[in-house]
Amino acid sequence: MACTGWWFIWSYCLAFILLKYGEGVRVTVRETNLEVVQGDSVTLPCSFFTMMPLFRLNIIWTFMSPSDPQSPTQVIVYDNGQVIESPAFTGRVGFAGIPWSADIILNSTRVSDAGIYRCVVSNPPETGDPGIGELSLSVLAPPSLPVCLWDGDAGAGGTVSLSCMVSEGMPTPEMRWEKLEPEQVSLPVIMEEDHTGSVHIANVSSQTSGLYRCSVTNVLGTQNCYVNLSVYTSSHSSPGILQGVLLTLSMALVLLALLVLVLWLHRSGQEIKWRDGGEEDECYNEIRYTPSLMKRSFV
Ligand SMILES: *[C@@H]1O[C@H](CO)[C@@H](O)[C@H](O)[C@H]1NC(C)=O
Ligand SMILES: *[C@@H]1O[C@H](CO)[C@@H](O)[C@H](O)[C@H]1NC(C)=O
Ligand SMILES: *[C@@H]1O[C@H](CO)[C@@H](O)[C@H](O)[C@H]1NC(C)=O
Repeated sequence: MACTGWWFIWSYCLAFILLKYGEGVRVTVRETNLEVVQGDSVTLPCSFFTMMPLFRLNIIWTFMSPSDPQSPTQVIVYDNGQVIESPAFTGRVGFAGIPWSADIILNSTRVSDAGIYRCVVSNPPETGDPGIGELSLSVLAPPSLPVCLWDGDAGAGGTVSLSCMVSEGMPTPEMRWEKLEPEQVSLPVIMEEDHTGSVHIANVSSQTSGLYRCSVTNVLGTQNCYVNLSVYTSSHSSPGILQGVLLTLSMALVLLALLVLVLWLHRSGQEIKWRDGGEEDECYNEIRYTPSLMKRSFV
């Protein structure tokens, strides 16, 4: 008797649904935006309603990575009572309530699992379009260890840039640069491509020297890297050497000039003597005065 009652209700509902919704498998997704921490398990929900027996139930789960939304990949398939896992998810995915529900469990989640998941349910001989459900999965991950680097001229008066790069972290980690010693100072960070944050310090001086820390933080944690910057001052050492070198050089130049002068004087004295002897016609003045000079010198 109970059975007859059940079948009566079932038939009534069936007729009602047929009238109200027409044909086809209907799919509902209880939660369309899911979040999971990397490494944890997550259930991707997909419920369906069909009016036919489940002998030929077919369920296909596909995944679209945000980096390649044009080519969805298969995750897992249920077909004619058989489960087929795709190689990319082998050992990590399974149906949670087959054949009554199309929910799947994804174990040991990875950052690369983040994206859009779609379940497609058909149940021949039920006609009409297959039911489709869609949800988006975010995989949260703590920041990876950042890499700190410095670049530029660490001589006094130079310009130095400190850069910090973090490759992983979901949500995207926030970055801070601080000088720790001698006192803690926050520095303005310029964000660049590929999650790199830089700090530019112009006209560095000995006060710029010290320990700098880059911290990357998101909801799951914080990681740090450090730069130990030491600015060298050139004002005491190398200009002293430079001055010494310059002084020596100029002294040598003066000596050389003196030598050249002496040699030149010596040669010009000889030339005058030669002219006195051989070129009398050309230089009247010299000729005129020289004898008298010579006479005087002999007197
Ligand atoms: C996922 O993990 C749960 C609990 O650890 C386990 O029962 C289940 O078999 C795992 N599923 C797959 C597909 O590995
Ligand atoms: C660089 O710093 C020194 C001392 O710290 C200062 O005297 C000089 O004016 C600064 N130069 C510039 C271009 O800011
Ligand atoms: C930073 O470098 C200076 C000199 O090179 C050194 O004396 C100091 O101990 C270093 N500090 C750290 C934290 O490494």
